[in-house]
Amino acid sequence: MNFGSRRTILGCIAIVVVCLLGPSTTITRGQAGQGPRPQMAEEVFKNIPVLRGIPVDEFMDTMGMIAAALGLNCLDCHTSDADKSWDRFAADTTMKITARRMIQMVNTINKENFKGVRMVTCYTCHRGDLKPKIVPSLIVQYSAPMEDPNEVEIPPNSKGNPDEVFNKYLNALGGTQRLSRFTSYTAKGTYVGFDTHHTKVPVEIFAKAPNQKHFVIHGAFGDKTWAFDGRQAWVASVDKPQPLMQLNAGNLEGLKVEALVSFPTGLKANFAQWRVTSTSIDDKDVTVLQGTNPRQPPVNLYFDNSGLLVRLVRFVDTALGRIPTQVDYSDYREVAGVKFPFKITSTWTDGQATVELTDVQANVNIDASKFAQPAPAKPKAD
Ligand code: HEC
Ligand code: HEC
Repeated sequence: MNFGSRRTILGCIAIVVVCLLGPSTTITRGQAGQGPRPQMAEEVFKNIPVLRGIPVDEFMDTMGMIAAALGLNCLDCHTSDADKSWDRFAADTTMKITARRMIQMVNTINKENFKGVRMVTCYTCHRGDLKPKIVPSLIVQYSAPMEDPNEVEIPPNSKGNPDEVFNKYLNALGGTQRLSRFTSYTAKGTYVGFDTHHTKVPVEIFAKAPNQKHFVIHGAFGDKTWAFDGRQAWVASVDKPQPLMQLNAGNLEGLKVEALVSFPTGLKANFAQWRVTSTSIDDKDVTVLQGTNPRQPPVNLYFDNSGLLVRLVRFVDTALGRIPTQVDYSDYREVAGVKFPFKITSTWTDGQATVELTDVQANVNIDASKFAQPAPAKPKAD
């Protein structure tokens, strides 16, 4: 897949932010005492006849889903100048009109055949290609299937004891006693990703047990901040359609589980059910723990032979189907007697980014305000 346009979007953020400074861009608060109600796509965008009633973050994930399913980048469906301003994404193109018709087709197929469950998605037919195949391929038929460890299926009667895998993991990290004394950290290092045009920029992380986290990169375009206060999450960035975007559902759960990985004694209790299986990543055997909660996509944790976590795969349910995020952990080093991953690579439908930490300080006092809703992002003045 070509991510080109995601990168070019960043080139025009100044304009984008200006056009989004209208009253519709701030997150609307619900009644006092209620949590904030996320803004829906049709309240923020101009031309949304179909994908209505979904929060902005999920809408953007849905765009990521269709781009990934068809192997397209954003501008293939939108006008070639859409990267100049978010407003321009509203203009219709032939591709966009076809895509809209396809969305309605897929919704009808699922409604009429699968009780409305999203069994058929854009990926079912398109498989990363604009033109779905019609004729079966003999090459595909007669070659060994490529196995994707992210696609593990664990039967309900799978053997294997999740507690054993957890115990091995906690012991490999230094044991529950030491882990229970590791209750907060600050970290510094570098971040490189599609969103920084493949340039290394400084990153800072602040985290507190059980799961609070503040993650900020200092990009050429300004700061990009993710915050999770244990209940709500936000991203403040000039490369998003809103300078402060609330994160909901799968994105919220995803940030939570990624935050929990830093304080792993709390991981087990976060899921109602665990199942075990095994597979391999790059020809190395791994044990997989799959955590599930009712009405939520699963989370898969992959452990190497030494017991350390090497991968986490989580999913977000978009309006058009489920998309994966893969986080790979490596370069474990000791911090306050506990093993800690210094290299973290995240891969998702819209990009890939790697964090390499240089300095991690354990048990630091962090002000609670660090984890609260961040200020809307402002583009960096030149
Ligand atoms: C396969 C075609 C396709 C691709 C690829 C695609 N989009 Fe869209 N996009 C659409 C359609 C269709 C709509 C209108 C949704 C509706 O009708 O409710 C839309 C609407 C939008 C809107 C709302 C514009 C407005 O003001 O009404 C934005 C923003 C957007 N897309 C951004 C993106 C981004 C960013 C990407 C790349 C990750 C992307 N799109 C990739 C088809 C596409
Ligand atoms: C049931 C199979 C099927 C599903 C599901 C499906 N498509 Fe398609 N799609 C097709 C076929 C077949 C074509 C026609 C390809 C051609 O003209 O060669 C097509 C064409 C398209 C085109 C136009 C391509 C071009 O070359 O102009 C777009 C855009 C598109 N689909 C988007 C989507 C999106 C977005 C989804 C998910 C909401 C989706 N499709 C789901 C079968 C499907």
